[in-house]
Amino acid sequence: MIEVLTDNQAGIARAAAILRAGGLVAFGTETVYGLGADATNARAVAAIFEAKGRPHFNPLICHYATAEAAFAHVRADARALVLAERLWPGPLTLVLPRRPDCPVALLAGAGLDTLAVRVPAHATALALIRSAEVPVAAPSANRSGQVSPTTVNHVLEGLKGRIDAVLDSGPCRVGVESTVLDLTGPRPVLLRPGGATVEAIEALIGPVGRGIPHAVAQAATGLRSPGLMVSHYAPSLPVRLDARTVAPDEALLTFGPGLPGAGAMFNLSPTADLAEAASRLFEGLRVLDATGIRLGLRAIAVMTVPDTGLGLAINDRLRRAAAPRD
Ligand code: TXA
Ligand code: MG
Repeated sequence: MIEVLTDNQAGIARAAAILRAGGLVAFGTETVYGLGADATNARAVAAIFEAKGRPHFNPLICHYATAEAAFAHVRADARALVLAERLWPGPLTLVLPRRPDCPVALLAGAGLDTLAVRVPAHATALALIRSAEVPVAAPSANRSGQVSPTTVNHVLEGLKGRIDAVLDSGPCRVGVESTVLDLTGPRPVLLRPGGATVEAIEALIGPVGRGIPHAVAQAATGLRSPGLMVSHYAPSLPVRLDARTVAPDEALLTFGPGLPGAGAMFNLSPTADLAEAASRLFEGLRVLDATGIRLGLRAIAVMTVPDTGLGLAINDRLRRAAAPRD
């Protein structure tokens, strides 16, 4: 049964306790309702994708109560500091480089070296994040393919029976998602228009590029160069899928019982649990890539993962990681 929590001290405390315990809580922000989980808990983040029925592991926005807390996890440059000072709390999401010691689960950022962070302008959301004492990863609280919810009823229609609780903080004031701005390159790039206007942003930091640069988009569409895609992590070693045997000069990503003979091994889930496997996928690819390179191995072999439930998203990411590169 889903708990519908009231917007008061007891409701917020209950919602925070569920988050801290690894549960899923939908909560209102000024833009849309988010489906929140403890961003540092990879299993909880995997449960978000499961509840949404997402076919892909899209990178999620991490919500913080203060800019200071956000910038402890990502590296802010002068542009980020100005934007945060003037537009946070508010409907603006900044994509910035993760700090090396960033405790946010790799799955929350889809394995990328960057992380999207935002401080929402909603008293209840801020109280919840403060009370949970963890960054809260939250995509919009709708099933995949449906529109973003702006009332508790929308959330219940889509996610009842799939999440632990929803904190009723009334209808959302802005009603469209936050503006997503990529600050990882020399020129800021608008990845998604939203609640904060480009005009307001440009008045503070100068010209903002619109959309993904043409060359990058072209290279990415053919999947010829997944490393170029802004939203896809790919290891540097070649990836071989559906491995039934493994060579000593290969690293092996296993699911369930492993195979003998690999040069290195990482088990996504010894018990063949798809949620556990999802939560360890990007970590596994990174560990095997680093170990494989150190040991002079030539590829990462990956055992078959079933194409059901979260397995769909896992296989989508694995196929991208295995796509031919130049
Ligand atoms: O208003 C909002 O932004 C709402 C509330 C809940 O905060 N959240 C939301 O999340 O709309 P979601 O997951 O539906 O959209 C997140 C967007 C996606 O377009 C995703 O690709 C982009 O942010 N994004 C997240 N992390 C990224 C990253 N590291 N690099 C590039 N894009 C990123
Ligand atoms: Mg969404």
